[in-house]
Amino acid sequence: MNICVIGTGYVGLVTGCVFSDLGNEVYCVDNNPEKIAMLERGEMPIYEPGLEELVKRNVDDKRLFFTQDLRKSVERSDVVFIAVGTPPKPNGDPDMSFVSAAANEIAAGLNRYKVIVNKSTVPVGTGNLVREIIEKNRPNDVNFDVVSNPEFLREGSAIKDTLEPDRIVIGAPNQVVAMKLLELYAPLERPMLITDVASAEMIKYASNAFLATKISFSNAIANICEAVGADIVQVIKGMGSDSRIGPAFLNAGLGYGGSCFPKDSSALAQTAEKHGYDFTLLKAVMEVNREQPKRFLNRLRTELGGTFEGKSVGVLGLAFKPNTDDMRDAKSVDIITDLLSEGASISAYDPIAMENTRKIFPHIRYTKNAYEAAHGMDALLIVTEWNEFKLLDMERIKSVMKTPLLFDGRNIYDPAKLRKIGFNYHCIGRTTATLLSK
Ligand code: UDX
Repeated sequence: MNICVIGTGYVGLVTGCVFSDLGNEVYCVDNNPEKIAMLERGEMPIYEPGLEELVKRNVDDKRLFFTQDLRKSVERSDVVFIAVGTPPKPNGDPDMSFVSAAANEIAAGLNRYKVIVNKSTVPVGTGNLVREIIEKNRPNDVNFDVVSNPEFLREGSAIKDTLEPDRIVIGAPNQVVAMKLLELYAPLERPMLITDVASAEMIKYASNAFLATKISFSNAIANICEAVGADIVQVIKGMGSDSRIGPAFLNAGLGYGGSCFPKDSSALAQTAEKHGYDFTLLKAVMEVNREQPKRFLNRLRTELGGTFEGKSVGVLGLAFKPNTDDMRDAKSVDIITDLLSEGASISAYDPIAMENTRKIFPHIRYTKNAYEAAHGMDALLIVTEWNEFKLLDMERIKSVMKTPLLFDGRNIYDPAKLRKIGFNYHCIGRTTATLLSK
């Protein structure tokens, strides 16, 4: 099949590559000339393990093309995926201007029947919006259908998630259209679910909001654990062993970030509000997530004698999660902003996200490794749980710090071990573990 994918962000680029790897001819379109030039040179605009090799293989085999020419790419294709960004506006609503612009341009290239597939995360009802825009702007009465096919890939494991999704959701207006997508996805041999368009759109939001709820629930329980002297790590193990609950997405820490959970939760709460439903449960989830880094900093401030003024703080981990250089809604941004505004100086280290962080904080100190970031510090914070931090020589870290004060925002260390080394060690929801190791 000939496929056009509009947008070369995480979703578009990975989807395009996987479809071309399955033998389709794929045109990946972006209106950013720099991005297209980079991709044509074989350079990746995003960090994603395995992506560069996948792109190279399919470009070399002449099945994958990068272009700015949206109209021509649509004309050549049977299926057109919309995978453009829907960034949040200041009021939390997703900005739909890129989706509308894509629909407008698709209309111009509608030379024969095509299936238009929405992969961008869009509010319920966007399928209708895309259909209306294309209907209004198509040059003649060429037929088309609009399908919703939400994406569930995670950054850092995007290729695997695309090749082996738990389910493929196809929201189609009728069975015939759904079959076209079934045919495209058949080689993956994964469970497929066919729904109406609105339900498919809702599945994406409800899934992300539910996962965000699991994380905030766990963080709230962790906060209570601290008060009552329980250990969240053991509590999660106990809860997660119940097959009705499951262990995934229950890790307590500084809360969720990234390009999806914060934006999608907020958008779903707004959609509910617009339809007269006050989604108090989801609002509380978001509130817990906002509060989590603040609670962490309150404890740190107390340990530092009630002020950050004149204190030096090392920050390990800047990306919103490990294995990505993505800084969108990263907890490090909230934490560093607050520390700087209260007079602390920062030394930061991240294996790959420092270049992106520099654009947000050009004036903090960036170091070559974790040991340098810890050197001479009054306190050291673990903000992102990169694997390389789990295996640090903690004796050495302690020996280079001014004061051995360690705040582990992702519970990556064994409290007993760290205390034995001589750290004043703090983590999330593990008071008992801390006490036991005293
Ligand atoms: C998420 C969804 O998982 C994916 O299905 C969707 O397509 C896009 O959004 P992503 O944002 O890449 O993917 O990251 P994910 O691995 O889901 O983590 C999101 C955030 O939750 C991270 O900040 C992570 O640190 C946090 N998290 C995750 C926790 O705090 N605890 C957990 O147990 C799991």
